[in-house]
Amino acid sequence: MAFSFDQVVPRRGTGSVKWDLYPADVLPMWVADMDFASPEPVLQALQTRVAHGFFGYPAHAHQLAEVICERMARLYNWPVTPEQISFLPSLVSGINLVCRAVGAPGDSVLTLTPAYPPFLSAPGLQQRQCDMVALTPVVQGQTLSYTLDWDALEAAFHERTRLFLLASPQNPVGAVYDPATLHRMAELCLRHQTVICADEIHCDLLLGASRHTPLAALDPEIAAQTITLMAPSKTFNLPGLGCGFAIVGNPDLRKALEQAQAGIVPHVNTLGLVAAQAAFASGEPWLTDLRAYLTANRDFLVRYVAEHMPQLRTTVPDATYLAWLDCREAGLPGSPYKFWLEQAKVALSDGAVFGAGGAGFVRLNFGCPRSLLETGLTRMRDALAQALG
Ligand SMILES: Cc1ncc(COP(=O)(O)O)c(C=O)c1O
Repeated sequence: MAFSFDQVVPRRGTGSVKWDLYPADVLPMWVADMDFASPEPVLQALQTRVAHGFFGYPAHAHQLAEVICERMARLYNWPVTPEQISFLPSLVSGINLVCRAVGAPGDSVLTLTPAYPPFLSAPGLQQRQCDMVALTPVVQGQTLSYTLDWDALEAAFHERTRLFLLASPQNPVGAVYDPATLHRMAELCLRHQTVICADEIHCDLLLGASRHTPLAALDPEIAAQTITLMAPSKTFNLPGLGCGFAIVGNPDLRKALEQAQAGIVPHVNTLGLVAAQAAFASGEPWLTDLRAYLTANRDFLVRYVAEHMPQLRTTVPDATYLAWLDCREAGLPGSPYKFWLEQAKVALSDGAVFGAGGAGFVRLNFGCPRSLLETGLTRMRDALAQALG
């Protein structure tokens, strides 16, 4: 590997929500922010931009849009044109904007649970109802995967279902959907005149031999009914720079999205645009090594849980750096999130906030140097051993 991800760089006291939310004796393994510095070309581009000393209003980022189009063509054979790209300061605001832009107050937004929490809150914030279909857990020994109950999904559509919100790859369960599954979901949506919002923010964080298919790349009819959300922020660890984008092939949907943000949503900041351009243009070798490192971290975690915490079950994610741990049969007293925080001094994400099927689970972020991952897992193992006597 040309790049090393083993170095532990102190982040406490740097204004990081991940590191500064909890006391100093707690190891944070929660929010989706990796403990790796961004790739060197990104740092260099930012330094050059800062050295220039001017931070006026940015012009439309044509060059970045071209880089994104080239990337979509190269990776997915997906023909995207620059005018189909709208830059966004955050994909959480993107999710909310899509909820606002599609349908009318009182309409329904359909999503799958467990879900990234803003998927559950955005519909209500935009005066929509949130309908949910729970993914079905499949237990195999100590590992856990999820399947989709197609009958339940089909039954959940009704005449006011205007939007289907899909995280692909899925957060928190780390599933990568194959083209046939995506096609079937899209067909259901087309049949019910339901717009699809495909949040593909995790699409570059592929583990092992996984391959991502953008839902809108499946065929032009599906593309015409889909808003795709993407960003370099998870891939290259830039979430604090606030730069994402929507790809919208349908001009009417694009207009609705623009209207929903008019006067409220700011343009992407200059440094976010600079970082995104450098990351997409020159970050690929770093990303290749990152994927290998994250894959090895995932495998380390799965082995560790099997050997040292057989009371738990874990997903074996095909994408993301997030493991979803089932603590329901571990005999822990009360909420697992509180148990790990108080007894192991490890801050995880509380599964209960991911909607139906999340209680009794925690989400663990393994996007960190292996030594930190081992420290966190060891603390968890010891706390479990002590609690179970
Ligand atoms: C599925 C998904 N969408 C959106 C986001 C956040 O995007 P942003 O930081 O651009 O608001 C995350 C962050 O974890 C995510 O997992």
